[in-house]
Order: sequence, then C-alpha cells, then structure tokens
Amino acid sequence: MQEAAVLIQHKALKEICNSLLQAVSINPKDAETTSDVTVCAELRGISSHGIARLPAYLKRIRTGLINARPEFKYYPKYGSVTVMDADNGLGQVAACKAMEKAIDIAGQTGAGLVGVRNSNHFGVAAYYAMQALPHDMIGIVLTNASPAMAPFGGRKAFLGTNPMAVAIPGQGDDSIVVDMASSITARGKIRLCAAQGVELPAGWALDEEGNPTTDPAKALQGSILPMGGAKGYALAVLIDLMAGMLTGGGYSVAVKQLNDYSGPVNAGHLLMAIKIEAFMEAETFKGSVSDYIARLHEAPRAGAVQKIYAPGEIEQNLTRERLEKGIPLTGEQVDLLEKMAAEYGVAISLDY
Ligand SMILES: NC(=O)c1ccc[n+]([C@@H]2O[C@H](COP(=O)([O-])OP(=O)(O)OC[C@H]3O[C@@H](n4cnc5c(N)ncnc54)[C@H](O)[C@@H]3O)[C@@H](O)[C@H]2O)c1
Repeated sequence: MQEAAVLIQHKALKEICNSLLQAVSINPKDAETTSDVTVCAELRGISSHGIARLPAYLKRIRTGLINARPEFKYYPKYGSVTVMDADNGLGQVAACKAMEKAIDIAGQTGAGLVGVRNSNHFGVAAYYAMQALPHDMIGIVLTNASPAMAPFGGRKAFLGTNPMAVAIPGQGDDSIVVDMASSITARGKIRLCAAQGVELPAGWALDEEGNPTTDPAKALQGSILPMGGAKGYALAVLIDLMAGMLTGGGYSVAVKQLNDYSGPVNAGHLLMAIKIEAFMEAETFKGSVSDYIARLHEAPRAGAVQKIYAPGEIEQNLTRERLEKGIPLTGEQVDLLEKMAAEYGVAISLDY
C-alpha cells in the first residue's frame, strides 16, 4: 500500500472522476455534475463522501442498478411545489436539477419545494443547499438513507443517518452552512475507520446485540447512535417521512445501502429554496448575517478554544486552502483511484 500522501489539484481530481463516470456511459454533463459534487466533498474535508463512494456508484451504473440515462419527470400540482421522479438516475444529478427547479420556482413565487423520489445516494447535502446562495435564497435539503440507526432505545437499524443541510447567504463569501447527519456521525466515517483499522470514539455505535462498541466492523453490523440522543432520532424520523414517504419514495428499510447490490437504492430527497426578498431586502438580510457571524467570532471563548467558527466555516476555509494548494490524498485514496482506473480502463495521472 502506498503511504505517502499526494497533493492533487481539484481540477485534476475532477478530470479523473469525469473519465471514470464516462467510462460507464454517463454523459459528459452528468459526469461533470457528479464529479463536481464528489470533489466538493474532498475540498470540504468530508472524504467519507468523496471518491470513497465512486466504486459503488460505478459498479451500480455498470450493472444497471443506477440508470445511466435517466429521464427525469416532474409532477407539478401546485404553484410552489413539484415532485420529480429521478428514474433511478445518479442522486447527484437528480438533486442538482431538483434544486435548480426549486430556485426557479422560488424566483416566481417566493419559495420552491421539490420532492425527489426513485433516486440514489447523493453525497454531501451542503452542495445542493449552497446552490441557492448566489440567488440570494436560502437552500434547505433533506435526504433519507439506508438503515444504519436503531429507533431510540432499539438495537436494530431502522433509520438512515438522514442528513439535513441549510445554507444561508451573508455578504460576499460569507454564509452559514449547516450540514449534518441526524446520527452522531455519518456511516461513511465508520467505514473509513474500518478501512484504516482505527477504533471508533466511545458513544458512536452499538453492536448487533445493542451493546456499546468501538469496533467499526461490529458497528457496521449493528447500529449508529443518533446525534443528541432522542433528538437526533426524532430528526431522522422527520427526514425519512418528508424526504422519503412524502415524496412517494422509499423510506426506512426500503432504502438500500450503496453496497447492497440486490436492487436500486430508492432514496428520496426534499429540496427547498426560499427567496429572501419575500421577507426583506436581501442586502439588509445578508448584512445582518455577516454581522451575526462577526458577533459569533467575538463571543467569549471557553477554556483553551482558539477560535469560534460559524457553522460551515471550517469547511469553507478548508475549501479555500485546498482550491489554492491542492487536495491531499492518502495512500489508500491513491490506491483506490488506481484500482478503479485499471478496472474501468481509464488512464489517469496523479502527477499534479
Ligand atoms: N447522502 C447521504 O446519505 C448522507 C448521509 C449522512 C451524512 N451525509 C453527509 O455527511 C457529511 C458529514 O456529516 P456529519 O454529521 O458527520 O457532519 P459534521 O459533524 O462534520 O458537521 C456537522 C455540522 O457542524 C458544523 N461544525 C462541526 N464542527 C464545528 C465547529 N468546531 N465549529 C462550528 N461548526 C462546526 C459543520 O460545519 C456542520 O455544519 C455531511 O456532508 C452530510 O451531508 C450524507
């Protein structure tokens, strides 16, 4: 195994993702979208949702479990709401299109909601919420995911790690971006610990019998604990009902894991855009958000804390740094890229 980390420019990594996706017949535009979301995860430091997910996407596409050429259909009934059937296409492409639609609707009515059914795992939720920012809108994104979390007090996985992302614009580059799983951690992070042979922090997971465990393999067989106890559980239930049941999509155990190749993932999403001008002048609001962020920074710090960050700020800083200096890839990530390149007959160069 290659140990040394490689620093790769984001454009080069995107090119590799693009080539891999096009090698399994994804058209250039959809490959570009999916690569952009994948590289966004790596830029934000969420490597659990970056290139680590490509092998499963590629295998699913190659075996027909993800539709490489979907036809999205919309079912609008009321002015501000529509439902999209994603035709089992890539979740990234469906969610991007759905947020574009929500923004378009919000431009006309003040708020747009798009429910997506028959979709797939879409990676980092923040990406789609942030699509709203340049339009002076607030973006809200919910998705359900395959069961990984037991109901509060239970021991068998019933709920996904169902994340929620909300992006709120400030002045210039300022923004608040909340993007979080309803579980104490994303399952991808447990997979990463398993792959790296690292123990989990205490309090993250239960084994199959419902006993606390720090063994990532046992955690993957058992269940992840909710964020904030019963509150994270409650949030996961809400997201499952709103992103899955309400959209006519799969929910609870009907949503499959990415690496369960017995059928389509069948995930559902709910994407919303809210036009700030529907409430107040956008510039005034964005100024207040920036002022709010400044006040967060200036709030009295506890103990040895060096800096208080706004939600999403750590990821934004990392993105800036990685856009400039490159994305550090671990030896495992380099191995993964080389393995996929060999499997799908794609020539890649990591000398960037
Ligand atoms: N597609 C799916 O099915 C799926 C499922 C679960 C999670 N995810 C993704 O996994 C990713 C990781 O989720 P997570 O719950 O582990 O996120 P996390 O715990 O790393 O962060 C959660 C939120 O807390 C904020 N935050 C964290 N530390 C902070 C600090 N010190 N100061 C200020 N703010 C701070 C972050 O900016 C973020 O908004 C997300 O991008 C999520 O969308 C996707």
